[in-house]
Parts: sequence; structure tokens; C-alpha cells
Amino acid sequence: MIIDWKKIAGDMYEKIKEEILVSWKKLSLQAILVWNNSSSLRYISQKRKWAEYVGIEFRLEHMSENIGEEALLNKIKYYNNDVDTTWILVQLPLPSQIDSKKVIDLINPKKDIDWFHSENQWKVLLWEHTGLIPCTPLWVIEILNYLKVDLNGKLVTVIWRSNIVGKPLVALLINSGATTVCCNSKTKNINEFTKKSDIVICAAWNPGLLTLDMINDKTIVIDVWFTIIDEKIYWDANFEEINNNWNMITPVPGGVWALTVANLMNNVLKAGKLQEM
Ligand code: GUN
Repeated sequence: MIIDWKKIAGDMYEKIKEEILVSWKKLSLQAILVWNNSSSLRYISQKRKWAEYVGIEFRLEHMSENIGEEALLNKIKYYNNDVDTTWILVQLPLPSQIDSKKVIDLINPKKDIDWFHSENQWKVLLWEHTGLIPCTPLWVIEILNYLKVDLNGKLVTVIWRSNIVGKPLVALLINSGATTVCCNSKTKNINEFTKKSDIVICAAWNPGLLTLDMINDKTIVIDVWFTIIDEKIYWDANFEEINNNWNMITPVPGGVWALTVANLMNNVLKAGKLQEM
């Protein structure tokens, strides 16, 4: 089945733009970029493009990769207190000298547009309906909904357990009735889980990790992350091998970008309403 994700995202942007125009005066999204890897640079440029398109002021603080943790924490404190900053987004991953969790958990949870703060992640786990969900796990669920996949009773393997995709995704899947296995770098024989699974979701940043022999002929494969090496994009799943044979749903050209960033802009609207409460 071919679904035009770009069109779906495009329709979302038009609705968001209209709502912002009607309901809001001035909204600003403060992004902080520390690690200049190609994927992060691409993400940030897409976020700028679409934020500006829907009418949100996008500001970028581009910091040095050698910055110490304290300096970054001080920046967060500054933006938390800045009345002109509606939302804060720290592009991940951060360089290894910085504890990401400490940084994310210092963001005022009401300004946390990614919905990564521990307090916000608890709400996802406990199924509290604020309407806000981290945008990458959300598009995975949206794709399954568009495909009319009933998650009740399905076996789903999620490959890996990151705080920004794997863990919130597991929470969403469990809450949707799926039986969920979450693998990590210590998991032995991942193929024993993937082979039995109805759905395999790769989110490992590990090119070529999932191969055709690791799944069955009915498995739906969704690949979340890509890695850019020498300007070429590599996926966790062996895209050509699997797509030419069976059920690779993503990547599709434009699909991942389109829905991730569109969901972020949608979060902006929902978070704006929460901030008003
Ligand atoms: N790095 C990869 N995906 C994301 C995301 O959704 N938000 C942030 N802040 N960093 C990311």
C-alpha cells in the first residue's frame, strides 16, 4: 500500500498554520544545537523551515561541541525564565561529556515541546491524556493506524530502548494492547524475537542491523532512524533487501521527515493550550 505521507503532513501544516493565525499572537521555539552531526543539522533545518511556515518564530542557539555541562544547564535556566521563549528544544544526541537526562529534566516541563521531560514521559506511560506525545513514537503509531493495524494481541519487537523513542514507544504499544518486546544492546539472539513478531520497529542508529532472514513473510517493518555517512543515508533495516521482498513500511521518501516534524508542530499547538491552563 502506498500512502502519501508528505500530503498527510502537508494537510497537517495547513491546519496548524490556520489555527496559529486565528488563535495566537506570538509563539517562539528556542532550539539548542550542540552536536553538529549531519542528521541533527538536517533535523534542525526541517524544524526551522516548518516552524516558520506555520507562523512560529524559530530561534537557534548553536553552541560549541566542546561546551561543558554547566554552561548548557545555565542556558536552559535562562530560557526557562525568558518570557519571550514559549518552548525549548535541545537537539539530541548531545556530546558524551554532557548528561542528556540532566539537561532535559531541567527544562520547564511546560516548555518541553519534545515531551521528553521525565514528568511528561510518566504521563505517556500512565496513559494520561494531555494529547502530547513525543513526535517520533507518535508517527509510528499513526502509521499503524493509517494502515488499520489492530495492535490488540500483536507481538511487536522494538529495537532499542532510548528515552526518546524506544521507551515511550513501548508505553504507547502496551497501552494499545500489543505484547511488546524491547531489545537492547545486551539482548541475545534478537532474531528469535523478530522472527516471531507481527511488527518490528527499528530505532537503533545501527545501519544494516535488521536483515531479511531475521523476519517472517508477514512481519511489518518500520524503520525510525537513519545514519548519514559521507552524505549517504543508511537505515537500521536493510531497506533494499526487505523492501524488495516483504513489508517494509518506512522509510519512504519524505515520510519520516514529514510526519516527525509535522507532529512537532502539532505539539506546539497542544502545548500552547496546556500552558494557558
Ligand atoms: N534527535 C532525534 N530525534 C529528535 C527529536 O525528536 N527531538 C530532539 N530534541 N532531538 C532528536
